[in-house]
Amino acid sequence: MGCPLSAEALRSGPPGDDDDDEDDVVQVSLSAQSRQVIKQSWREIQDDISRVGIITFVRLFETHPECKDVFFMFKDVDDPETLRTSRELRAHGLRIMSFIEKTIVRIDQDQRLDQLILDLGRKHYRYDAPPKYYKFVGAEFIQAMRPVLKERWTSEQEEAWKTLFLYISSTMKRGFQQEQRNQRNQRTSETTT
Ligand code: HEM
Repeated sequence: MGCPLSAEALRSGPPGDDDDDEDDVVQVSLSAQSRQVIKQSWREIQDDISRVGIITFVRLFETHPECKDVFFMFKDVDDPETLRTSRELRAHGLRIMSFIEKTIVRIDQDQRLDQLILDLGRKHYRYDAPPKYYKFVGAEFIQAMRPVLKERWTSEQEEAWKTLFLYISSTMKRGFQQEQRNQRNQRTSETTT
């Protein structure tokens, strides 16, 4: 069965509004079966959540070191072991994992889910964390999760998680762009009054 969870026609601002407009229009649709697959595999990695969270971010920094610039405290850290044992990175990994938990709780409530992720995108504008990096997180999360599930990992799971992360990163980007426009409008109205 198809489902309404979708992030299509995302272009919410004028062309050139952001640094990676070319992937503004994406179509994401998560079937009822995929939602089940996600819920089930999430349950199966419960005991390893914190490890998956930290590995996701260490891998993200290794494959895309430019992401580190966004995090003041990791900017100049190159040693993977220092990253792996960092309390701050662990805390950040856990924050992402607890966000995924909230996403899964709302996975059958499209509007609430959309709102949750849009708010997160708005926050990322304030953190100065640009959308061009969001899409890397899903791939690293999948790589971190795969060894936990071992032989239980399937291509169906991989597709379902990829789709979920595509939806999350596209919707976060929309939130980011909304906040960007709000801030610009606010600045314009301040300078004209
Ligand atoms: C799927 C992608 C991502 C998700 C789900 C996510 C999730 C989160 C969450 C839940 C928080 C805490 C929000 C709060 O304050 O309530 C957060 C904070 C933050 N995120 Fe992300 N994030 C993602 C990608 C990224 C990327 C790629 C970067 C940087 C390259 C980034 C940089 C930050 C920063 C700087 C903060 C604030 C500091 C901190 O909490 O450590 N995020 N993120």
